[in-house]
Amino acid sequence: MTCKTGGNPINFYRQIKNISYIEAAKELGARLGIKVEDQKRSSRYDLEYEIMNKANDFFKFTLHNTTEGLKAKEYLIKRGLTEESINHFEIGLANNDYQSLSKMLVDQAYEPNLLMTLGLSSRSEKNNELYDIFNNRITFPIKDNTLNVIGFSGRSVDPKDNIKYMNSQETPLFRKSDVIYNLYDAQDEIKKLDEVLLFEGFFDVISAHQIGYKHGVATMGTALTESQAKLLRRHAKRVVVIYDGDNAGINATHEAIPKLKRARLDVDILRLPNGMDPDDYIKKNKFEGFKKFFETNKKDSYRYYYENLLLRLDPNNANSVQAFVRDVNLLFQDASAVVMQMFEPEISKKLGFDFKFSKVDIPSKPLPEAKKTERKQVLNKYINAENDLIFELLKRKKHLDLIKDSLIPNTYVLLENYQVLERLVSFYETREFLILSDFMDRLPNNLREHLEKNMKTNFNWQNGITLESDTIKNHLGVVHSYSNERELDALYEQMDPDNPQESLEILNQINKLKQKMKTNKRRDK
Ligand code: UTP
Ligand code: MN
Repeated sequence: MTCKTGGNPINFYRQIKNISYIEAAKELGARLGIKVEDQKRSSRYDLEYEIMNKANDFFKFTLHNTTEGLKAKEYLIKRGLTEESINHFEIGLANNDYQSLSKMLVDQAYEPNLLMTLGLSSRSEKNNELYDIFNNRITFPIKDNTLNVIGFSGRSVDPKDNIKYMNSQETPLFRKSDVIYNLYDAQDEIKKLDEVLLFEGFFDVISAHQIGYKHGVATMGTALTESQAKLLRRHAKRVVVIYDGDNAGINATHEAIPKLKRARLDVDILRLPNGMDPDDYIKKNKFEGFKKFFETNKKDSYRYYYENLLLRLDPNNANSVQAFVRDVNLLFQDASAVVMQMFEPEISKKLGFDFKFSKVDIPSKPLPEAKKTERKQVLNKYINAENDLIFELLKRKKHLDLIKDSLIPNTYVLLENYQVLERLVSFYETREFLILSDFMDRLPNNLREHLEKNMKTNFNWQNGITLESDTIKNHLGVVHSYSNERELDALYEQMDPDNPQESLEILNQINKLKQKMKTNKRRDK
């Protein structure tokens, strides 16, 4: 046990005496001559906290005092954990008898329903008995800002168990998208250094802690959320992302950076050698090796992105240079003048000419007003084609197969049009001719009204014009191109000027899609 337990004297006292937070506050208060009110149920969640803390104590007791526990502890020690960090991180063991925690808590008169709500127990449908959720797993308690336990993650000890980590379900206390492992136990160290190390795994946090990097935290097996990023920003100005050196880790890094930057954190990245996680690296290279690696390989996000762009640059190819210049301008557009001046000479050297950053225009959607009328005209083109297809089928069956084969829901501007077409197709399944009143009578009210309204304005219908297969094909092409149009809109919507790297990806997608639309158009002609 260290006295750096979150820097909170009550918590420290609570831990050495192994008593509840409230009890610790009272005892400590009494020693200092301060009367601490009996605040039972002072917080909405006192009872819940009490139960979770008791479960944690039970797991710790099991690890240190049973045969099963000693075996698990052996495993931990073989993995390089020290006794001190086992205690510091309050690691425990959920044993393998399936009921002991639930029984212990029910014996202490806690409500079975509450144990279920807290994700500790579940009731068997067969015999109505209460069973433990965590079995045969090493437990890591997760805490909130009150330093009470709000959930657990359990790592399997049985190699045959193919669920490696199991986390508490969502509970009133435990909201996965908000929690960060070790944030509150490490908060003083984080504040002191104004920096937080962001890892993927619990063992990474613990290994780093053992060599003196005590400001590490981890997400819990899911992608970092915006709210976790904001939460980190409340504790520090800078974050160092240290994810696993595999593809998943690299992708997760790319996903996390924009979120961290949006939360106004300064972002550094430490990329590990292929296939290694921080825990592996630390075990292999110890404090000295890791320290050196950390200090020489940590990059700010500009350099990290810039080096990624360099991988694609061929200075002898004009197109490649042009693309590089565009991308590098985009990436640095939110950078400070100092950062830009630092990079300009380096980029000039790479390119072989004098490079200066210039402002790039991120293509944006047409202005809203202009857009609206333009948009309506564009949409009319699609809607007219949809209507013509409907009225053709209302008149005769001839082109049924053509239309039927390319009936795809998301390509229609008006859902009603799609629904009418669907009904027309199934109507013809058993009939050769369509009697209008027959068909109309079968339509639900909304579709009938929709169709009647269109009948009044459709030129082909009013004038009894039928279409030939070329025209039908052409219309189907128009209808299908709508899905591209919509996708394009959605992409423009995602462009974020604060977010060069993400915007760059989107820009590439926009260009690809536009290219595809162009070739489609040419093909359709
Ligand atoms: P890892 O598989 O990298 O875990 O997952 P690890 O810490 O290196 O585990 P060891 O070293 O094999 O024991 C990283 C994190 O993802 C979450 C856990 O939070 C884990 O620490 N995870 C992983 C899950 O939630 N479920 C899983 O099945 C696996
Ligand atoms: Mn790992």
